[in-house]
Amino acid sequence: MRYKSQKVAYWFFGLCMLLLSLQLVYGFIMAFAHMGFDNLHAIIPFNTARAVHTNLLVVWLLSGFMGAAYYIIPEEAENELVSVKLAYVQLISLALVGVIAIIGYHFNYWEGRKFLEIPRPLDWLVVINVLTFLGLILVTLFKGKKQTTTSLVLTMGLVFAALLYLPGMIWFDNQTMDSFFRWWVVHLWVEGVWELIMGGILAYLLIKITGVDREVIEKWLYVIVGLTFISGILGTGHHYYYIGVGKIWLIIGGIFSALEPLAFLAMALFAISMYRKGEKKHPNKIALSWTLGTAITSFVGAGLLGLAHTLPQVNMYTHGTLVTAMHGHLAFWGAYGMIVFAIISYTLPNLTGRKLYDSFTGLLAFWLSTIGMLGMTVAFGVAGVTQVYLERKVGLEFGDVQTELQVHFFILICCATMFSTGIGLYIYDFIKYGRPNDEALIEQSL
Ligand code: HEM
Ligand code: HEM
Ligand SMILES: [Fe+2]
Repeated sequence: MRYKSQKVAYWFFGLCMLLLSLQLVYGFIMAFAHMGFDNLHAIIPFNTARAVHTNLLVVWLLSGFMGAAYYIIPEEAENELVSVKLAYVQLISLALVGVIAIIGYHFNYWEGRKFLEIPRPLDWLVVINVLTFLGLILVTLFKGKKQTTTSLVLTMGLVFAALLYLPGMIWFDNQTMDSFFRWWVVHLWVEGVWELIMGGILAYLLIKITGVDREVIEKWLYVIVGLTFISGILGTGHHYYYIGVGKIWLIIGGIFSALEPLAFLAMALFAISMYRKGEKKHPNKIALSWTLGTAITSFVGAGLLGLAHTLPQVNMYTHGTLVTAMHGHLAFWGAYGMIVFAIISYTLPNLTGRKLYDSFTGLLAFWLSTIGMLGMTVAFGVAGVTQVYLERKVGLEFGDVQTELQVHFFILICCATMFSTGIGLYIYDFIKYGRPNDEALIEQSL
């Protein structure tokens, strides 16, 4: 690392690892409940576990993005972070809001809006937290010596993500209106502005790891940003098919969302071609695996598996079934989980000065979690298609179908165990790296 203040990133990554571990515990609780072992029901009913699982996911990913920004922006802008103290205050308050929300969910202090369960009073704390974060990033960037395309795309993604949180805070008494704007947050995050964050981090990693010229890499970023906006904004329509809005959304949503995979395809091609063009000299092969892994897995999970159920004629059958969970897992993991793992793997040696990147555990962590998650995706997919057939073709009752599906969750739990072993090994390596220190400061970051 070149700037002392970049060390803040480490603690955001630490929070990431902690919340991810907790997320997995709730995943297992749900998977066992699906299998018929709902023993914790009295304390943690399924709906609570589900909200905790998905909200922890969002918080650890945001913590990862923030850590990435605190590392990347000082280096790209050639400027120390303007206030390290404030960054630590922001970290602690982020953790506090997350913990309060999660505890609250266990006592029915929540809103039943999938992914946006955080009650409105707590939303204001989120707003203050994010404003502090953005203030620090923006001032550091614009007071710095350089504003590179990579840092601008990353920052633009973060600013838009913050702005798009606001439509979800408006109060509506009408279910359709509420649903309409809820998707501005949920969809426009993952299929819009988060893609800019991903693109920014990916470009940064490719510049560092492949050694290809910045100009070449940043040209690709424009293509990705363009494709994302052209398809993703009106692609929101694929959530408007059956919520009570006009029929025109069937056509708009169908056409534009079918174009969305192009942005993910561009990212995959971008990463692979930069790798092939590059010198292949960078020693951190684990960071390289996660970087190429995220580009390819996100195309499969988000692009292809999203496309699989995005047309209204298909979505009419698959809507709200385990087919969604199939896509949700590989998309979130491939695009956002893996990019966070990539930046952590790249930065840890630079932050701590310990070069543990050719460890066998690191490689094993990558393969076990990737194959484990692919297995989980297949298990959810097979269960989902069976659910669609029995419930929506044969016409069996929801509850009866769930009993038929129990066996699929045995396979899911096996694959989830493999996935979690990979994550466990990754966290083991994370701990082994130890704390960041100033001795790791060097003139030119590797
Ligand atoms: C130990 C590993 C995991 C297990 C056993 C697990 C299991 C589950 C289960 C059973 C559900 C509920 C499905 C339903 O509604 O019936 C769920 C939901 C979900 N999980 Fe996981 N999960 C795990 C890890 C992850 C990871 C690592 C991610 C993201 C990177 C993730 C993202 C999600 C999302 C987004 C949903 C909501 C899906 C939807 O809206 O349909 N999970 N998970
Ligand atoms: C990284 C990007 C993506 C992530 C993280 C993601 C994740 C998710 C999640 C979690 C859901 C469930 C949301 C909810 O019900 O609250 C969902 C739904 C959906 N996604 Fe994606 N997605 C991504 C990209 C895409 C793309 C590119 C497409 C289309 C090509 C797509 C098509 C869909 C469709 C059609 C649904 C609605 C499923 C239903 O009717 O239940 N997604 N996605
Ligand atoms: Fe969407």
